[in-house]
Amino acid sequence: MAPLKLVITRRIYPEVLASLAPAFDIIAENQAADQPWDAATLQRAVSEADCLFCSVADRIDAAVIAAAPRLKMIATGAVGFNNIDVAACQARGIRVTNTPDVLTQTTADFGFALMMATARRIPESERYARAGQWTGWAFDQFTGRDLHHATLGIIGMGRIGCAIARRAAGFDMRVLYHNRNRSQEAVQATWVERDQLLRESDFVMLVVPYSQATHHLIGAAELALMKPSAMLINIARGGVVDDQALITALRERRIAAAGLDVFENEPKFDPAFLQFDNVVLTPHIASSSKATRGAMMQLAADNLLAHASGLPLKTPVA
Ligand code: GLV
Repeated sequence: MAPLKLVITRRIYPEVLASLAPAFDIIAENQAADQPWDAATLQRAVSEADCLFCSVADRIDAAVIAAAPRLKMIATGAVGFNNIDVAACQARGIRVTNTPDVLTQTTADFGFALMMATARRIPESERYARAGQWTGWAFDQFTGRDLHHATLGIIGMGRIGCAIARRAAGFDMRVLYHNRNRSQEAVQATWVERDQLLRESDFVMLVVPYSQATHHLIGAAELALMKPSAMLINIARGGVVDDQALITALRERRIAAAGLDVFENEPKFDPAFLQFDNVVLTPHIASSSKATRGAMMQLAADNLLAHASGLPLKTPVA
């Protein structure tokens, strides 16, 4: 039987590519690390494909699926799959897989790092030192906020939220969380209503998947509930926060700071964010350790290999 035809939308590690090569006819491969194909190129690329390996930043919408009449499987190298029209896939019987678990600890580490960088003003003070502005030590220089004994509110208590709560216990933080379901995991965290979490937390960390239900979960009304001293950390998805409402809240000093790894319209986020020294901006890298990105790519590849061999998919979402 002829090997299945595979399209890969982004440059992947050579060893992951090597694991796929014997089992697939790789008919198109985007060699760019960070530039997605435009819609027309993507649609052309998938027109003969049986399988698709995509990334979090490729929009696999109904038009792409319609352009791929032979397509049977999509493996995304990410845990979140809101960029894929899963309903359109299901209607066509196309299987979809993601990469849960392998990125949990790395992403939780980053959530903590972003919270600490924001609280302790690390990027701002680094910019100051690098610019040669440091002329002397002062008691009130770059005074930040303590994490220890502060209240952390986690919105979205899945695998990553629980891993963040475990780290917070080591910092003697009080942890509140809000989630549709109460967590069954052994974490020291208290479920509260969302408004109570917003009112009481010193740090609000967002870890929910993006969906219509979580679109603009944090908007003007929610930001207004937060303490003026509180900080918002978003490692979830752009769109979970209403960026315009956040910019207004920062401008009016209604919250103290924000740490943002994800944005509406990324990578073209609103340049208004650049005017704030109390905002830490990172380019959607929460899962980006070398090992974890490799594990994500390999899990996507292993799902494709399972499909090619007629074996059960490892981590199907549909
Ligand atoms: C990254 O954002 C992911 O969903 O894996």
